[in-house]
Parts: sequence; structure tokens; C-alpha cells
Amino acid sequence: MKYILAIESSCDDTSCSIIDSSFCVLSNVTASQEVHKIYGGVVPELASRAHQQNIIPVVDKALKDAKITKQQLSAVAFTRGPGLMGSLLVGVSFAKSFARALNIPLIDVNHLEAHVLAHFIKDTPDQKVPQFPFLCLLVSGGNTQIILLESPRKMQVIGKTIDDAAGETIDKAAKILSLPYPGGPHIDILAKEGKPTLAFSQSNIKNYDYSFSGLKTSILYTLRDKLKENPNYIQENLNDIAASVQKAVVDSLLGKFEKAIKDTKIKTIAVAGGVSANSELRRRLQELGEKHKCEVFIPKFSYTTDNAAMVAVAGLFKFQQQDFAHLGLAAYAR
Ligand code: KG4
Repeated sequence: MKYILAIESSCDDTSCSIIDSSFCVLSNVTASQEVHKIYGGVVPELASRAHQQNIIPVVDKALKDAKITKQQLSAVAFTRGPGLMGSLLVGVSFAKSFARALNIPLIDVNHLEAHVLAHFIKDTPDQKVPQFPFLCLLVSGGNTQIILLESPRKMQVIGKTIDDAAGETIDKAAKILSLPYPGGPHIDILAKEGKPTLAFSQSNIKNYDYSFSGLKTSILYTLRDKLKENPNYIQENLNDIAASVQKAVVDSLLGKFEKAIKDTKIKTIAVAGGVSANSELRRRLQELGEKHKCEVFIPKFSYTTDNAAMVAVAGLFKFQQQDFAHLGLAAYAR
């Protein structure tokens, strides 16, 4: 095996990456889509159109950055799902045609598994990677899960949200505050200058599952009541509100994650997904690791959001077992 080329197109990022057989990244090129900003969320129709425009230039650049030719590739990996169907179809169709034209194997990858396996992406050959078993908190715009990994191919979801995801909750709060989409990074920046003065009510459900719908409603009603007393409440307290929202979400995320650490006694912990870019979550996960004497893995910022390097790594694990996809398989949204 020489190199794997991977494609990620599940939402609004068109990404292509090339890795070698030792999991080292040779290139990772991503075209993000600015077109959605004015709509306050991803517009699926616009996303698939932009993927069509971006995919060939992105693959071309990834090959150039890696300084290899397409004839040197050993396989093509791609995100099969979950994601937006129109977006996935662009990547899946491209990957199938590319692999067929080069007469090399095709490897389908689950997007969520790829996020978790992002911890095996190597920027340098001697980079440390997690030992198994490890516990990963996967937090993104659409998912909140606690995953127990026994091996790269053996993952068990031991906890998940029963309603909204953590990222969705933060984005919704940001929308109430009239912050641009996606709101997560803005909440993070504003929270740095604020104090968590507001207490929101949280739902506490059993086991390792999460529920964010109660928190979302509590944020909405608390701010509505404050605005009745003072119409400028949001403008005058933006930093404190952001810090309060952030604290509530991080408290909830780490409360359940700590319970999983205690119960499983696993000593390697990690976080993955878009919300893992949050500075408070990163800081407190580190603290949690110190408290429970765990080794903590926090991804580089560029590997927290959607990227093809994580798809390439997940693809390489499947390549090692010769687990290939056939040309007839279809993308799945859920
Ligand atoms: O994994 P991801 O890139 O894709 C989706 O699942 O859609 O996650 C995107 C989510 C959004 O909700 C965004 O607001 C959130 O990650 N996010 C953040 C931060 N950066 C991105 N949330 C909190 N703090 C951040 N710094």
C-alpha cells in the first residue's frame, strides 16, 4: 500500500486528503462554503451545488500538495454518511468514478467514526496516538455521543442525546443573541470576557444519555424574562450570557462523561467533533483527565471540524483488513 486519497462532503465542507501507510498526512485541502452565512444555517441545495464546483479543484490541489500522481494511489476512501444527501452524493459519485478510472479499491467511511478516529491522524511520524480502550466524547452540530472504542473497528455508543445536540444548543443560543452562524466560535470568544452569572435549568436523564431541549428552552425563557425587565439586557450582558451558556453546555457534557470514566475505569479519554474546538471544553477536559489520572487527547483545531484526513485514517484501518466497498453502494443521510 502506498497512499490513500479520501473525500469528505457530508455537509458544507468539500475536503480531500492524502495519507501514507503510516497514517501521516501528506495533504489536507478543504474548501468551506461562505454562501450559507447570510441564511443563518446550511442550505442543502446550495451546499450540493458548491460541492460540485469545489470537488475537482480540491482533489487537484490535494494531489499537488502531496507531490504525488494519481497513479500512485492505492485506494479511494469517502464519507458515505450520515450527512446531507445532496452533499454526500457529490463526494460518493466522485469517489466511485475516480476509483473505477484508476482501477483501485473503494472504501466507504462512516462520518462519525471518522471524527473519533481523527486522533490517529499523524502530522509527524512519531506523534502519539491513543491506546485502546479509550473513551471519546463526540460533540458536533448534529451529534452528542459518548463512544467506547475497543479497537479502531470496534466502537460502542454508550451514551447519546435523546433530542438536540450540544452544538445545535450553542448555535440556537447564539441566534437568540443575534450572533452570526455558526454561533459556537462567537460564544467561545465572548465567553472569555464574561462570567457565568446566569443559571439555566438542565434536564438530567438516566445513564450516559444527554438531553439539551430543556436547556434550550431555559435559555430562551430566561432571556425573555430579563428582556422584559430591561430591553437592553442582551447588549449590556453579552459576555456574561455567552459564558453562562457555555458553562451550562460544558457542565452537562462533562458530567456524563465523568460518570462514564468512573464506571468504565478507562484511562484514555478524548474529545472530537466541531464543538471540541471550544476552549472551555478543552480546558475542563484536561482538568478532568488530571483528576482521574487519564491520558487526554484533544484534536488540533483543523481536525475538529469536517476534514478528509480523518476519513483517510478511517479508510486506512479498513484497507488494512481489505474491507472494500462495491460500486453499487449508496450514500445514507442517517
Ligand atoms: O462537527 P461540525 O464541524 O459539523 C456539524 O456537525 O455540523 O460541528 C459544527 C458545530 C457547530 O455547532 C459550531 O457552532 C460548533 O461546532 N463549534 C463550536 C466552536 N467551534 C465550532 N462550538 C463551541 N465553541 C467553538 N469554539
